[in-house]
Amino acid sequence: MQLSEMNRKVMGKLAEDLLTWIDGENPDVAKFLRNAFNGEKIDPAKLEETISFFTANSAITGCVLASPGSSVISELLYAQRKTASVIDQYFYNSKGGMAVKGRLEAMQKYLPPIMERYLQDKEEVIIGSLGSGPARYIINAVLQLKTKGYNGGVKAFCFDIDENAILRGKCNAMIEGVADVIKYKRSDMQGNIVGYYRNKFHVLVLKGILCPYDSRGCRTLLEHVKIMLKPGGTIIASNVSKKMVEDDPFTCFIMNNIVNWIMCYKNESELKEIFEEAGFIWKGSFTDDLGFHIMGIGEVPLS
Ligand SMILES: C[S@@+](CC[C@H](N)C(=O)[O-])C[C@H]1O[C@@H](n2cnc3c(N)ncnc32)[C@H](O)[C@@H]1O
Repeated sequence: MQLSEMNRKVMGKLAEDLLTWIDGENPDVAKFLRNAFNGEKIDPAKLEETISFFTANSAITGCVLASPGSSVISELLYAQRKTASVIDQYFYNSKGGMAVKGRLEAMQKYLPPIMERYLQDKEEVIIGSLGSGPARYIINAVLQLKTKGYNGGVKAFCFDIDENAILRGKCNAMIEGVADVIKYKRSDMQGNIVGYYRNKFHVLVLKGILCPYDSRGCRTLLEHVKIMLKPGGTIIASNVSKKMVEDDPFTCFIMNNIVNWIMCYKNESELKEIFEEAGFIWKGSFTDDLGFHIMGIGEVPLS
């Protein structure tokens, strides 16, 4: 097989289709992307032209460049609204984009049963989400438990540093009729809210938070927030996996090299080690359908 054919195979049809469209709009950008993906040294002027082209043609790119960790990006990928943007359609349909939506679906499947265990034992479950964004998965979990007849006893606190994510969450909770049991607070999880909410939660969720940090950074954060959990409490924290780099190299290339959205991809054993070093008992994990996001589950020892 010719090298060009191999690379085309690795890039995938979706990426090829995107590049064909870009070629029609701006051949220099398409050429630069092909060459850079194939390992050619990145020329700053061509990179700048490419960033400018992507920003003008993609809402997702604009959001990433303005704030790489913003929940606006995940919300766009969850909603997958009809758009004329060919670049955003690529992001929606790429395996990486689908996996972000899959991560939400997996959380909506696995979180309610974890919360329900506490309801059966103690008739109350208090759940917290750090870096919650609008926290669709918390709203969904509360609704699922309500449907099962647990009307009282379920309380949730969602914390995010972004005021707009908080406002959007409050709005969604009102729309869904659960604003009385889900509180949203603008807070920095790195700060002293952990002391204020010491020993408060049965379940704590950090979804889409650890991904940019190296192992040491993740361990430090998990150690920091651990005091918010009660003894026997459960933490669920996700991290993007190394499988994404293997199975969707073109999206990873765009993230790394064009929009500077750098991830620290980890496998399950690395996540397990982080949890254990932070003082949690590893209880296993679940993933989205593609296995691009690993949701680790840890428990605080009883004593
Ligand atoms: C990738 S988004 C994930 C949002 C949500 N957890 C989800 O999965 O849909 C990361 C979120 O973490 C928030 N965030 C980042 N640093 C934070 C901090 N130090 N304290 C609180 N929230 C933070 C961002 O504002 C953003 O809403």
